Amino acid sequence: MKQNQEKENAALAALDYIQHECILGVGSGSTVTILIQNLNKVKHKIKASVSSSEDTTNKLKQAGFEVDELSNVGSPDLYIDGADEVTRNFYMTKGGGGALTREKILAAASKKIICIVDSSKIVDVLGKYPLPIEVIPMAKSYISREMIRLGGQPELRQNFVTENGNLILDIHNLTIIDPPQLEKQINNIAGVVTNGIFAIKPADVILIGQSNGVNTLENQ
Ligand code: A5P
Repeated sequence: MKQNQEKENAALAALDYIQHECILGVGSGSTVTILIQNLNKVKHKIKASVSSSEDTTNKLKQAGFEVDELSNVGSPDLYIDGADEVTRNFYMTKGGGGALTREKILAAASKKIICIVDSSKIVDVLGKYPLPIEVIPMAKSYISREMIRLGGQPELRQNFVTENGNLILDIHNLTIIDPPQLEKQINNIAGVVTNGIFAIKPADVILIGQSNGVNTLENQ
């Protein structure tokens, strides 16, 4: 399938960014799963790995990697992750799998962020894919009302609790004109743990898989 081939090409291209003694942050999702399946090709270069979710931790361990605590390794040299949507000016939305808070912590702590996506993820304006917000359970109704005020339609993700013990609101119908501003504004609502806009600290490199290679965008 074309999309899988594109994901694979993006994931393989990311291997070239892993340099000797790399402390590697690993995201979550299907594109990252392909990355993990190929990570043994550069195993000798990886000094330590840190993970954004239990799913990724299990996959890394199955692939023969030890997984360290972020607090023990300091600042990862590289954070590689997928995205739900990404713009050509390096803004992303993430959290389709619900791991957005740990993903954002790793992205924030890392020296360089590489986003690996298939071509369907590239958009001009973020917001068509519902924006996830991790919320403290007692604040879910309050935050829903605040998001309606901001023009969105919140929907509680059913039968889902995050690895941090919280809930996810998926916000439909947002048109995210100013991603850094909205990221900050949503994070300022009491009870929000974090939201899925990655714009205050955007990607440094986007690797867009094509059917026969990869299109690389580097943030200067
Ligand atoms: C996980 O919480 C997400 O942020 C993923 O990075 C995102 O949903 C992309 O996943 P795929 O690679 O499966 O599209």
